[in-house]
Amino acid sequence: MRLAARHILDLESMPVEDVRLILDTADSMQEILSREIKKVPTLRGKSVCTLFYEASTRTRTSFEMAAKYMSADTTSIATATSAIQKGETLLDTARTIEAMGVDMLIMRHPVSGSCHFLSRHVSASVINAGDGMHEHPTQGLLDLFTMEQHKGSIAGLKVAIIGDILHSRVARSNIWGLVKLGAEVRVAGPATLVPPELEHLGVKVYHRVEPAITGADVVNVLRLQLERQQRGLFPSAREYARYFGVNRARLGLAGTDVLLMHPGPMNRGVEIGSDIADAPFSAIRQQVTNGVAVRMAILYLLLGGAEA
Ligand code: CP
Repeated sequence: MRLAARHILDLESMPVEDVRLILDTADSMQEILSREIKKVPTLRGKSVCTLFYEASTRTRTSFEMAAKYMSADTTSIATATSAIQKGETLLDTARTIEAMGVDMLIMRHPVSGSCHFLSRHVSASVINAGDGMHEHPTQGLLDLFTMEQHKGSIAGLKVAIIGDILHSRVARSNIWGLVKLGAEVRVAGPATLVPPELEHLGVKVYHRVEPAITGADVVNVLRLQLERQQRGLFPSAREYARYFGVNRARLGLAGTDVLLMHPGPMNRGVEIGSDIADAPFSAIRQQVTNGVAVRMAILYLLLGGAEA
């Protein structure tokens, strides 16, 4: 089985069959991750490069681990120590890496649409590891995978996405993926951080947290992106926590077997209570583990390896 496209750029345009194929393949990859020796020769001879213009712990590391577990060769370009510092353009940088024989470029970039742009100019597969405020499709896929793991099926699930929706590429990828798979999606946050046009994507928009959480099966809390808040969109982190933070009392409005999620990194005590972040109903660490399986599935499906 192969994916329809040779790039992973967004979940908006990804056919539902491809979403399904990635999630099912990730299920098989979990078996490899449960082995004592997590190494298969599947992608021997293939090479991937991570090119991150923004900070990352989870995404970059899990792609690199996924590639190593499958025996692909990995290279990492650190913008701080590369020729990007000398003014080299994105396209020249990408073409330089490609000239060395790289099969896949995994890129995070602050500009929305940059991964689409790159995919039109290189022959390597391009994976969007987060582009500006647009999408973070592999995070969306690992979130879907985690929800399915706990709830069996996404169809009919009530999923509340709480927080800084405006700046969140994770929110957009979650919304596209969840709506495709038949979930009821609610989003909530301050009016300044929730674009009203999201209703056109088929989600319910709230400006108070409580009605969005009430009866939810899954509560996915998003990071307050303090680095993108130059316009004074909320008074202070303390006030945000008071009115919009997900704490134990607010989470009590959800279903009794609620699943709590957060893509990380967390601002503990701001958008999420520190005690609930580590509670048994929290899947936050499992999301990280699942990120490796989902990214192994993507590498396998795009780089076409031998049997795992
Ligand atoms: N969730 C996520 O993208 O985390 P990183 O910024 O650490 O990659």
